[in-house]
Amino acid sequence: MTSIQRFLNLELPVLQAPMAGAQGSALAVAVSNAGGLGALPGAMLDAAALRAELSAIQAGTQGPYNVNFFCHRPPAADAGREAVWRAVLAPFYRELGIDPGRIQPGPGRSPFTAEMADVLAEFEPPVVSFHFGLPAEELLRRVKAWGAKVLSSATTVEEARWLERHGADAIIAQGAEAGGHRGMFLSADASTQVGTFALVPQVVAAVSVPVVAAGGIADARGVAAALALGAAGVQVGTAYLLCPEATTGPVHRAALRSEAARRTALTNVFTGRPARGIVNRLMEELGPMRPEAPEFPLANAAVAPLRAAAEAQGRGDFSPLWAGQNVEGCREIPAVEVTRSLASRT
Ligand SMILES: Cc1cc2nc3c(=O)[nH]c(=O)nc-3n(C[C@H](O)[C@H](O)[C@H](O)COP(=O)(O)O)c2cc1C
Repeated sequence: MTSIQRFLNLELPVLQAPMAGAQGSALAVAVSNAGGLGALPGAMLDAAALRAELSAIQAGTQGPYNVNFFCHRPPAADAGREAVWRAVLAPFYRELGIDPGRIQPGPGRSPFTAEMADVLAEFEPPVVSFHFGLPAEELLRRVKAWGAKVLSSATTVEEARWLERHGADAIIAQGAEAGGHRGMFLSADASTQVGTFALVPQVVAAVSVPVVAAGGIADARGVAAALALGAAGVQVGTAYLLCPEATTGPVHRAALRSEAARRTALTNVFTGRPARGIVNRLMEELGPMRPEAPEFPLANAAVAPLRAAAEAQGRGDFSPLWAGQNVEGCREIPAVEVTRSLASRT
């Protein structure tokens, strides 16, 4: 047994990565019932949806589970920047016959709030994880009050030390291979971002809490390698995206099954923050990183109608196709099989 298994009361050292927009309670339940740590992403849920999803998890599994939130500071809307961003996207609006004057504020991503903490307190989840740092001290204290173990992602040694100092009970070392948003919160400089193989042993040396490796881990050999580097467990996202329990949309599933999935990049054009996804038309034609993109998560609103129009035609040209650099583990098999297969050498 590794320290994370003892600490989180897990049969297997496998944590399913929370993946906002690609899964809900069904995947979390399946992974927790398989002996791993299932996770519910909270970033795109309102309080009522969070309550419904937590009820489904408690009804579906006796095992431990994780609830995950973002903790960015919501930016003030900036009309000037929004206008510049829409001008960048104007040729695409023209092509798809979209009137940019009718764009609604997009489906945002909310940070952890007192309202969400109230809902969590009704359920007392055993594990709560954060992305982009940690919430305000008072909110963190509330989560810890019922004994929840708190995890957060670090993308550098400096972030890992900061998280340990500010109360994280375990640290997810998120290598640059990882799919979805970079958890980076102390620096926006891409040169600070290193691969999982380089990051994990350095974080293990720098902190005394358990370290969980994330990014590019897709099979039992990857898990064994992470444990050999000193990790106490792994967090895996991409390998679960084709499971029937995931809610990954059709264009995203098609892209993951295609050769295109072997080419990913970090891009800020979908949300305003760097995230890794399969290179598609929007990333290719704008370039993946654009200084004009409004601050996270505001960039999303102006892209959303393009995404909807293209998806209605079965195309993922304007969709965020989040995926890590290793898609070898993506199979259309139940999450219990993915989980057991990942843990088969431990
Ligand atoms: C589709 C997708 C959505 C993600 N959404 C979240 C999220 O909501 N919260 C979070 O902490 N991490 C999120 N991540 C990042 C994961 O926590 C994790 O770092 C990553 O999946 C690990 O790398 P891998 O995808 O190569 O396994 C997401 C990743 C993917 C692929």
